[in-house]
Formats: sequence, structure tokens, C-alpha cells
Amino acid sequence: MTRVDHLTGGIYRLSTYAAAKRLSFNQFLIDDDAPALIHTGTFPMYDDIRAAITQVLDGKRLRYIIVPHFEADECGGMGRFVGEATQAVLACSLVGARINLQQWDYNGPVHGMQDGDVLDLGRHKLRFWETPHVHHWDSMMVAVETTGSLFPADLFIQPNEQPPVVEEDLGADMCQWYRSAGLFGGSEPVLRVVDRTERLAPNWVHPMHGGSLPGKLLPRYIAALRTQPFTFDGHLFCRQLPDWVEGRTTGDRQSPAQR
Ligand SMILES: [Fe+2]
Ligand SMILES: [Fe+2]
Repeated sequence: MTRVDHLTGGIYRLSTYAAAKRLSFNQFLIDDDAPALIHTGTFPMYDDIRAAITQVLDGKRLRYIIVPHFEADECGGMGRFVGEATQAVLACSLVGARINLQQWDYNGPVHGMQDGDVLDLGRHKLRFWETPHVHHWDSMMVAVETTGSLFPADLFIQPNEQPPVVEEDLGADMCQWYRSAGLFGGSEPVLRVVDRTERLAPNWVHPMHGGSLPGKLLPRYIAALRTQPFTFDGHLFCRQLPDWVEGRTTGDRQSPAQR
């Protein structure tokens, strides 16, 4: 079942907990003149998420379907959501539009967003951050200035079932989960976005997995990313790759020119 919680200023969290994966899958619905859905959930989750949206507004009114990177939990329902809402436009990063949508079987309208681009929903203004290699080449994030909210997709997540608003420091659990899943190939792009997030000083951070973080808790999660290992160390979803068992398991390998 997908639960619906109002977080702040017309932003709703639609959350489905997958016990087998020990992870929640969140979508965020922004109720405005031009309503927006951030992340669609996977293809099989569509009916539950569609019903959850209906608790807040008519899904046919959706104006923007926002996909921060192309992965099934972020974009699996995009075709059906865009198809059902005749005014809907898919918004992804410009890189995502080029590498994932051209020559694909998606024929709907697309906005490829660049850093600093703004979508005006009415009361909410969505400003886009290009965040390449924070998990994926095409990754982006969304900042909503009116509520001081940041939607960082898979950054700042927490595993296990969490309340809509998290009050605990789960930074160590976050870093451990990133290492076991193998989510981030390197630290530099991530830490640059961490710095940018700190400068923004948002009132809210709304990760795709776990609960939303109030701004006062954010420094704990930032500190965890700055002080604890979180990058790929040879594990993919808890499975150790054989090539990494006897090889180097940490740090960036230098190119011959750097040695
Ligand atoms: Fe992802
Ligand atoms: Fe995700």
C-alpha cells in the first residue's frame, strides 16, 4: 500500500515500503496550478501510485512528470502518467533526454533541463541542478525555493521503513547502504553536490528512499558523507564481485600519466 503524507506547502510524499528490499520508494506530488510528480515509481507500482495521487488531486491534471535519472524506480511509470494527463510533459536532464529518450520507445513531450532552468508551477518554482555522476551520468536534482525544499533523488537516503519526517541521525546507515549497493562510482561529484546543498541550506531534503530530513538534521548527514566511506568498493547489492576480492578495493586507481 502507498501511504500519503503532506509534508510542507503543498508537497506530498507518496511512499511504498518494500520489506524484502528494506527500502521505501517515494514519489513527491506538488499540488499547484500546474501539478508535478517527482519520480514515478516502477512500472508495477503504477496503480497504487495513481490511487495515492487521486487522494490529493485528479491525476489527469498532472502537468510535469519529473524524472531525476533513468532507472525503473524513478521512471518506470512515466509513459502511463504522461499518457493519461494530456497536458503532461516529461522533465529530465538534458543529458537524460539525449542519451535515454532519443531512439527509445517514448514518444511524449520532453523538456531537457539544464542547470539553473526553472519550471513555474504557480506558487512553486522548481529550479534544476545538473548533478552528473551523482549515481548516474544523467542525474539531476530539483530545488523548490518557495518551501526551501531539495529533492536529491538517491542522495541522503535511509534504508528500512522510516516515518515521513526523520528525526534521527542515520548517516552511518546511509553510507553503509551506499557501499553495499555500490551506488556511487566515485566521491568527487557527490561531495561537490554536498557542498552545494550546504550552501543552499534547505529547510527540507526529500530523498527518494526513507523519510524527509528537516534542515536542522542535514548537517549530520553531510558530515557522514564527508567522513565515512560511501563509494563503490566491489559490492553490488551485497554481492562481492570476484575481481575485487584480491585487488585494490578502495580509492581511485591512478592513470599511467599520474604515476
Ligand atoms: Fe536511482
Ligand atoms: Fe531511487
